[in-house]
Amino acid sequence: MIWILLSAVAGYLLGSINTSLVVGKLFYKKDVRQYGSGNAGATNTLRTLGKTAAAIVVVGDLLKGILACLIGRWLPGETAAGVYGGEYAAGIMAVIGHNWPLYFGFKGGKGVMTAFSVVLMFSPLAALICLLAFIVIVAITRYVSLGSIIGGAAFPLVAWLMGEPLLLVLTGVLLGLLIIIRHASNIRRLLEGNEKKLSFKDKPSG
Ligand code: G3P
Repeated sequence: MIWILLSAVAGYLLGSINTSLVVGKLFYKKDVRQYGSGNAGATNTLRTLGKTAAAIVVVGDLLKGILACLIGRWLPGETAAGVYGGEYAAGIMAVIGHNWPLYFGFKGGKGVMTAFSVVLMFSPLAALICLLAFIVIVAITRYVSLGSIIGGAAFPLVAWLMGEPLLLVLTGVLLGLLIIIRHASNIRRLLEGNEKKLSFKDKPSG
């Protein structure tokens, strides 16, 4: 049990390194939370700081989810049921750290990229099916938030249909719920018809 707790703490501390805030503050002297949607994530980094910064954020957020799961896997966290609970705990807590980062006043992002990297570690095929759904939705609607919500909600269903372990399906349910909750303001804007569409032509603000 102690190893699972340690994995969770390691995952949270790692997830709290919110890449968009690190990149923005370090290289652009900007806090992306003060611009655009106010979200500390890749989409708002693209709006605020441009493509290069957004690409670094995507890679950083993907890597930290993967690294958190690997740390959880390396720590001897096997439960009585023979399941390595540590990697699930570390992955989930990396997403929570990203959303509510210890080092940045608990005001972070929506955890989409980090959640994706976590489920990619457990079921690459299910994760890639959801990524495909995300890409198709964003390509058609140009709403990243809509793609994120549907992709996040679809994962547990896809994993369940594929016969993945219950622990993974439940992890997917939790991560999907977190994604939906964090997109409350986007859902409101989508319903009101004033959600901002994805654009690579936006001039970085400021
Ligand atoms: O991953 C976050 C994305 O789905 C929405 O970002 O900045 O438009 O709220 P944003």
